Amino acid sequence: MFVSLEGIDGSGKSTQARLLAEALGPETLLIREPGGTGAAERIRELLAEPALELDPLAELLLFLAARADLTARVIRPALDAGRDVVSDRFADSSVAYQGAARGLGVGEVISLTGSATEGLWPDLTVLLRVDPEVGMDRADGDDRFESEGLELQRAVAQAYEEIAKIASDRVVVVDGEGTVEEVHERVMEAVRSR
Ligand code: TMP
Repeated sequence: MFVSLEGIDGSGKSTQARLLAEALGPETLLIREPGGTGAAERIRELLAEPALELDPLAELLLFLAARADLTARVIRPALDAGRDVVSDRFADSSVAYQGAARGLGVGEVISLTGSATEGLWPDLTVLLRVDPEVGMDRADGDDRFESEGLELQRAVAQAYEEIAKIASDRVVVVDGEGTVEEVHERVMEAVRSR
């Protein structure tokens, strides 16, 4: 099973992805996006630089390059070997941030990300819903996206709501506010229900 965790910055996805992977057992592969290979981690560093100026399409293509490498060399082999994979962000992040919030177009980004992953989408996506103001308080604000402020996070949050409606067979929305344990229990319930 391939599960992705999605949400705005400061939604608690990284903590919840780790707890979910632990709960699924020691064979579970936990990864984050962008990241998970040498090249993808270097792309991550580049994309996080607050001072970096970048054309939106170039930004998307860097995320997709990282995702293509991670998918082909890490995720597919793990799934083929029968392992569960939990990913802290995946393709929906590009759809929400680059497609909707940056205005590249949702359909265009879905199509390009499909090419990068050769059509691989998660079996289940858990969307952690938190108020953008709560997320901003929780996020450390030190990367390029967080430093753009509340307006970007609001646009991303709205895009995720649209994605959850369009892809309701795959995406489960979970209330991300409350204690880490409370949210973990909701995430487990969402996974069990599938
Ligand atoms: P993280 O800090 O939540 O792990 O993610 C890094 C940042 O990159 C975060 O602000 C969201 C952004 N991002 C995109 O804009 N598009 C993408 O496709 C991915 C995976 C992340």
